[in-house]
Amino acid sequence: MSETSGISVDPLTPRIGAEISGVDLTRPLSDAQVDGIRRAWLKHQVVFFRDQPMEVEQHVAFGKRFGELHIHPAAPKPVEGHPEILVVHADEKSAYVAGGGWHSDVSCDAEPPMGSILHIHRVPGSGGGDTLFASMYAAYEALSDRMQHLLEDLSAVHSSEHVYKGRYGHSDKKTLRDGDYPSAEHPVVRVHPETGRKAIYVNWGFTTGIVGMKPAESRALLDFLFRHVTREEFQCRFRWRPDSVAFWDNRCTQHLAIWDYYPEVRHGYRVTLKGDRPFGTSTADAGAVRMRRTA
Ligand code: SIN
Repeated sequence: MSETSGISVDPLTPRIGAEISGVDLTRPLSDAQVDGIRRAWLKHQVVFFRDQPMEVEQHVAFGKRFGELHIHPAAPKPVEGHPEILVVHADEKSAYVAGGGWHSDVSCDAEPPMGSILHIHRVPGSGGGDTLFASMYAAYEALSDRMQHLLEDLSAVHSSEHVYKGRYGHSDKKTLRDGDYPSAEHPVVRVHPETGRKAIYVNWGFTTGIVGMKPAESRALLDFLFRHVTREEFQCRFRWRPDSVAFWDNRCTQHLAIWDYYPEVRHGYRVTLKGDRPFGTSTADAGAVRMRRTA
């Protein structure tokens, strides 16, 4: 337990995930509590809280203690007055679930979200609906030196049209026109701006190609990486209960929401924290991380 913040941090696995207790997220947090949560989050990459019956305003206020909130480029905004709330919902009418393939949130943005905070309100009655998280630090560190060096020189394209088109009902082009789907190039190995650690930054959901490679080379390398990054030993698995909260770092993790409960209902809200442009390991970039770490 931390001396100043009163919070306890219990790791789920040695590589990723920790459960935090001793804090009530429905109440305003002290600076020491925010600092304690942030330290645990940076170390464990995803942190979990139990029994947090937050109202939407409390959820938004909790998110704002860690950064500015992001507004999703494509998802509907059904919560009046709160465009920053992303609804995560599945029931007997659902054709897909949010996060049903391994991904890092909205990596198609030029400045993808730093973190995401998901509050699940309702879980499926017969169980299921767990979420898997994988550490991209662990995935990078498990590679040979040769493969690490190869990847450090590469960038990848992250696209969204294949993910969002038709999904959110804006094929009528009223809210999102063809060509409006975000797409960006990011380094394949990203340096975390706060910890300075290296993490693999390609994901099955959004990454569509390696820049400068022939299509067959790019496909083969991405297929290898998509399998590699989701090896079980890089993962933790979270079993939700009503009013559980997960807070993950998109800069060094990927996640997968398991849809094994159809036709039952799972429901919650997510707020997402704005991030900055990913950078890799070139000399200029290394200077940037040093500056950020000392800022
Ligand atoms: C998401 O990708 O934000 C959804 C995760 C989940 O539903 O567990």
